[in-house]
Amino acid sequence: MIFAWEQKYSVNVREIDLQHKEVLESMHFIYDLIISKKPLSDLNKALDVLMHHSNAHFLTEENYFKEFNYGGAEEHIEAHNKLRKDLADFVEKIKKQDGAGIYKIFYDLIDFLENWLVDHLETLDKKYTKCFNEHGLH
Ligand SMILES: [Fe+2]
Ligand SMILES: [Fe+2]
Repeated sequence: MIFAWEQKYSVNVREIDLQHKEVLESMHFIYDLIISKKPLSDLNKALDVLMHHSNAHFLTEENYFKEFNYGGAEEHIEAHNKLRKDLADFVEKIKKQDGAGIYKIFYDLIDFLENWLVDHLETLDKKYTKCFNEHGLH
């Protein structure tokens, strides 16, 4: 089961907490589709939503980095780019696969993303709280 949102994951910026919740919700949604073996067309639609939320979210953070001249930007954007690449690889694998094996790839994707998200929230994302708050973003 995927982790649930808790206050300890807050980065103390409302807009960004909401985006993190949206990404997490789209992961939960995909997970539920996998375990109830819903049609692949549903999974692919849900994957589009997940990709949309994560791409929009990364851009939001990166735009604030630029706006606030955030010192940790380079390291953070590098981590986003690595994830962008990993997600693109999963999407590629999903496109190539047909048959039952595709559920396993979706499962691996959610499993991978869950670990990535907890780690990213607790390390890199929390680092910008001070900078963002100092620039009046709460
Ligand atoms: Fe981030
Ligand atoms: Fe984030």
